[in-house]
Amino acid sequence: MLELEHVTVRHGATIAVRDVSLSVTAGELVALVGPNGAGKSSLARAIAGAHRPAGGVIRFAGIDITRLDAPAISALGLTHLPEGRPLALTLTARDNLLSGAYVLGSMARAHERLREVLPMFPALATRLDQPAALLSGGERQWLVVARALMARPRLLLIDEPTLGLGPRAARETLDVIAGLRASGTAILLIEQNAALALGVADRALAMSAGRIVAEGAPRSLLDDAGLADRYLGERR
Ligand SMILES: Nc1ncnc2c1ncn2[C@@H]1O[C@H](COP(=O)(O)OP(=O)(O)OP(=O)(O)O)[C@@H](O)[C@H]1O
Ligand SMILES: [Mg+2]
Repeated sequence: MLELEHVTVRHGATIAVRDVSLSVTAGELVALVGPNGAGKSSLARAIAGAHRPAGGVIRFAGIDITRLDAPAISALGLTHLPEGRPLALTLTARDNLLSGAYVLGSMARAHERLREVLPMFPALATRLDQPAALLSGGERQWLVVARALMARPRLLLIDEPTLGLGPRAARETLDVIAGLRASGTAILLIEQNAALALGVADRALAMSAGRIVAEGAPRSLLDDAGLADRYLGERR
């Protein structure tokens, strides 16, 4: 569903991503882990069309998206949740959710989609009429994920969904994300919290200094003590 071949991303003179190739197939959850500054967010922004890569090819659903802009890529069904994605805090949880469904083209379709999405987030169902500002950190994070799902994405590219959450809310958030596979959604999950992410992933990639330095079964990355020391990094 998503394929990268030899992708390089630059910020001026800095090379943030070097020659990265990877793929994510339908219904698969791939974790991308690595320490601060590894290039994870730069890679995500390149995939989503927020920053054009300096080299390489990115394909999504069989289409070359390397030179498409962010709205065009999002319209194809690839939804990017950047780090620290803000909610409209004064709007209710319901209105935040409905705002995520504008691509569906009608309010009736948005409400229909809301009825499909809500059962995946029982904790939100009772908070729909409250402003997002009153939700806890974990609840806000679920709202961000739920809002993204309102657009019926084929692939979710999620950057650090557990940032700032306590251990329990972090685990619950990743469980919710892992559950999305059941609907066929592919997920590329970027996490600094490697232990948690590898616990829910089907496959894992570790990135360091712009390169993919390990790839395989999550278990194999977790069991590689040297890799853990060198590359997986500690939680901020
Ligand atoms: N807009 C930018 N302008 C210049 N340099 C940047 C920019 N964004 C990122 N970089 C640099 O690119 C490199 C990779 O940064 P990136 O944010 O992609 O890493 P990351 O793996 O997401 O790190 P973190 O875990 O801290 O979020 C770093 O050296 C960073 O300083
Ligand atoms: Mg980042």
